[in-house]
Amino acid sequence: MPAAHPQSVEERTRAFYDNEGWVAGDDGVTGEDAYFRNTAPERAAYDEKCDRKARDLLSGFSGELLIAGPGDFPKSHALASEPFDAVHCVDISEQSLSICRRRLGDKGRYKCGSLLDLPAANESVDAALCAHVLFHIDKDDQARAVSELIRAVKPSGRVVFVYMNPNAPLMLIQRFLKFFGVHKMLKADKLYCFAHPPRWWETAAKGCAVTIHPYNIMSRNQTRALLPIPALRRRVFSWASKYEDRNPRMAARLWSYIAVEINKPA
Ligand SMILES: C[S@@+](CC[C@H](N)C(=O)[O-])C[C@H]1O[C@@H](n2cnc3c(N)ncnc32)[C@H](O)[C@@H]1O
Repeated sequence: MPAAHPQSVEERTRAFYDNEGWVAGDDGVTGEDAYFRNTAPERAAYDEKCDRKARDLLSGFSGELLIAGPGDFPKSHALASEPFDAVHCVDISEQSLSICRRRLGDKGRYKCGSLLDLPAANESVDAALCAHVLFHIDKDDQARAVSELIRAVKPSGRVVFVYMNPNAPLMLIQRFLKFFGVHKMLKADKLYCFAHPPRWWETAAKGCAVTIHPYNIMSRNQTRALLPIPALRRRVFSWASKYEDRNPRMAARLWSYIAVEINKPA
């Protein structure tokens, strides 16, 4: 029987981040860190490289940056924010915004709100970043969130999304494992998650130029499940780092996470 008051995807996501995702337990670890970021030391150098990718994709931009779904304002966001005078953080989670306030201070402007009805004036910011957020929005609403961010950036501005690639080989394996319930064992089923295939971006980013870059060969949970031996992890991440530099187009097809660069016309 359906629940009397079924929660929307957005309400469930907010409840997760306000009560668990951005709340540290007795051990000082947040739900997000425990479920999704439990990293392996063998991929630390690769993760640091990933942290620099958003900044590199926004290089040349300055002025006002909008970060949609900044979460706990991780290092990638701090690096991307450096060249900007002001950073507008919009998140549905109050817990997220209080962490952002502590980390970013006076340089930030903080608004609790949704990407689906973005609290930002038309053409008000120079660039926008939205990392690891869009796939937590209902699949039928994701195009609206993309349009909202494009609306907020000035002409010739840029929006960078970090998103999943459901066609990547490891994502196909993950779907296979999910079928046998392995996903639940990894506690990776805490949140709604749906990713459109890369070709979807051309339609979603109507009238803008879209370039897809490789972002991250695999999630931390995929690493734990598929590469249990440290020596193997070391080899795979060292290889991945060199491969994506030499073959970015192919890596963007193979990697589980992509960075989508959207350039708004002048
Ligand atoms: C997985 S975290 C990503 C945090 C950070 N951007 C990163 O890359 O680590 C997702 C964040 O997006 C926020 N979020 C999810 N849906 C949202 C929506 N519709 N509008 C605004 N923020 C949303 C969540 O509250 C959470 O803080």
